Amino acid sequence: MNKTPENIYPIFDRLLQRTAKEKLLGQKAKALWLTGLSGSGKSTIAQKLEAILYKEGFKTQVLDGDNIRSGLNNNLSFTVEDRKENVRRIAEVSKLFVDCGIVTINCFISPTEEIRDFAKSIIGEDDFLEVFINAPLSVCEDRDVKGLYKKARSGALKNFTGIDSPYEAPQNPALEIKTDNLTVDESAQIIFDFILPLIKYS
Ligand code: ADX
Repeated sequence: MNKTPENIYPIFDRLLQRTAKEKLLGQKAKALWLTGLSGSGKSTIAQKLEAILYKEGFKTQVLDGDNIRSGLNNNLSFTVEDRKENVRRIAEVSKLFVDCGIVTINCFISPTEEIRDFAKSIIGEDDFLEVFINAPLSVCEDRDVKGLYKKARSGALKNFTGIDSPYEAPQNPALEIKTDNLTVDESAQIIFDFILPLIKYS
């Protein structure tokens, strides 16, 4: 937990509580944390998953790397420090949504155990569900949807995850989705089936 800065007096305990908001929405909030290489399928799966959740009556918010980096985090690069700051801000935003009772789907490379542990410490262990979107580097590179692997291989793009910047696979994720063997629909359905009992209001 972050230390409260000097001269700051938070009023968290005086605000309407999350349980009241969850009751109003008829759902329990959780934060899914999709981690994986660029091109592994995080954003595509998140879109499909959100559509399923919506159809089943759940209120959601997707937070996605390229989206957040075009707004809130448009001043951050891909150095280790900036990736950490990227994830810190996203985790704080994610926590705000969870505190509103919203099912939050986060899609960020979040390349190291340390960075993901940092996100977990902000969001809270009980609400943080790590999902490893696992596709081999060679598969992501073959897909190269955005043409970024080609740029990274040519040297035109530095610090690219999997090429000249590390990606550490999660050691103990809540769920692992191997997207080289599964379709997008199958992947999204597996995550939905996993999260349903956790977000159902009872
Ligand atoms: S993270 O490492 O800080 O978690 P994030 O998920 O926000 O990354 O952003 C990743 C997206 O930014 C990629 O999907 C890709 O489209 C784009 N990108 C641009 N430069 C890089 C880079 N050097 N490394 C990884 N992704 C990059």
